[in-house]
Amino acid sequence: MKVIILQNIFNFEILKSKIEPIDTSDYKIKLINSNETHSVRHPVLRAGKPIESCVFEGDDLETTIHMGIFVKDHLIGVCSFYQNSSPKILEIPQYQLRGMAILKAFQGKGLGKIILRHGEKLLNEKKSKVIWCNARELAVNFYKKNNYKIVGEPFSIKNIGVHYVMYKVLPK
Ligand SMILES: CC(C)(COP(=O)(O)OP(=O)(O)OC[C@H]1O[C@@H](n2cnc3c(N)ncnc32)[C@H](O)[C@@H]1OP(=O)(O)O)[C@@H](O)C(=O)NCCC(=O)NCCS
Repeated sequence: MKVIILQNIFNFEILKSKIEPIDTSDYKIKLINSNETHSVRHPVLRAGKPIESCVFEGDDLETTIHMGIFVKDHLIGVCSFYQNSSPKILEIPQYQLRGMAILKAFQGKGLGKIILRHGEKLLNEKKSKVIWCNARELAVNFYKKNNYKIVGEPFSIKNIGVHYVMYKVLPK
């Protein structure tokens, strides 16, 4: 019952944010656990699919990092980094970015860019050389705006669509 009440308050906040502009300077970024990512992964990346589809391989490895961006203490965006190398990229060590998602009502307000920058900063401090991702076709321009480059040919992921491997070399 408690969960339902919280969910209603949250839906109200989202509704309000569509009517009134939200103050996007009022955000916090925190490390979260893999289960916490599901409330954003599910509606944004796995809509209509079972909640189990929000569990990604490697989610609970010690080396995996999950970040959340909170507006007024509500989790509205997530991204995760996995110590995983792409055969298409030579530099090591590498991290793979997965589950990059901002709730629909909060998209296009600069919050995706902000959480990604925080992740990049953290991985840079951990001496990672490269971040790469399998970018959905629709998100390619978001990554380009964040200085990620396409490597290789597009490919298809079953039930999701065309993707591109994109990467960014982190500053030394
Ligand atoms: C892609 C996503 C994470 C971007 O987050 P966001 O908060 O909406 O993006 P921002 O507002 O931070 O945008 C940053 C820049 O990228 C651009 N951008 C964002 N999404 C874009 C898109 N889908 N296509 C083109 N450009 C995009 C913005 O115009 C902005 O450009 P600017 O810096 O010149 O103003 C978010 O829209 C989302 O969750 N989309 C659905 C899920 C998804 O596709 N995830 C990626 C899976 S690979």
